[in-house]
Amino acid sequence: MQESFWQARWSEGRIGFHEPAANPLLTRFLPQLTLTPADHVFVPLCGKSFDLDWLLSQGLRVTGIEFNQAAVEEVFDRLSLPPQITETGALTRYQAGDLTLYCGDVFALTANDLGPVTAIYDRAALVALPPETRPLYAAHLIKITQSAPQLLIGFDYDQTLTDGPPFSTPQDEISQHYADRYAITELLSQPITGPLGARTQGMEQAWLLTPT
Ligand SMILES: C[S@@+](CC[C@H](N)C(=O)[O-])C[C@H]1O[C@@H](n2cnc3c(N)ncnc32)[C@H](O)[C@@H]1O
Repeated sequence: MQESFWQARWSEGRIGFHEPAANPLLTRFLPQLTLTPADHVFVPLCGKSFDLDWLLSQGLRVTGIEFNQAAVEEVFDRLSLPPQITETGALTRYQAGDLTLYCGDVFALTANDLGPVTAIYDRAALVALPPETRPLYAAHLIKITQSAPQLLIGFDYDQTLTDGPPFSTPQDEISQHYADRYAITELLSQPITGPLGARTQGMEQAWLLTPT
């Protein structure tokens, strides 16, 4: 998807992916990552997700990246955290307390920008990207985090019945992107609900990716 696609979704309020509270699969399965306070979680393509607030409430340091500036600013507003704002190359960096959000393209984010990452939380990030971009995204994520462990939420449904995003990323595809670097464990598979569930049937899956 081009940036213009996502900016239009945001400006027109077509953000059915945005949930009213932290994702239940995050709160249920975060312990699988065996994090300790002050560990650093990277949330690619974070939107204005309440997952960010919840991760902070667990005592974690959190870094996200998102195209939409208003979404980034809304997160800091609702947390009553006035950010320091700096330009870093093609990205704008918002930072306050334990939260850093970059505004811009994830492909412009470097390992140096990010610093050492303890874990990645991917909800509606890999599945937001079209087929030709997903291998590039997965390789970029591995590169900038040195294959940090991941909690990854995806979908498995018949792509011929409805278009993405969110796209179907079944186990075979997760393996294509990540099996070279990670042991892949299915944590859960349950029927798709929400906006995608209204369009098609299939399974929502949570995966634990452990570096090998
Ligand atoms: C499906 S939404 C998911 C947002 C969030 N993870 C959530 O669960 O609510 C995907 C988000 O990724 C952003 N996005 C898409 N491609 C991006 C890219 N290349 N770099 C940064 N953000 C991107 C979009 O603006 C959108 O907010």
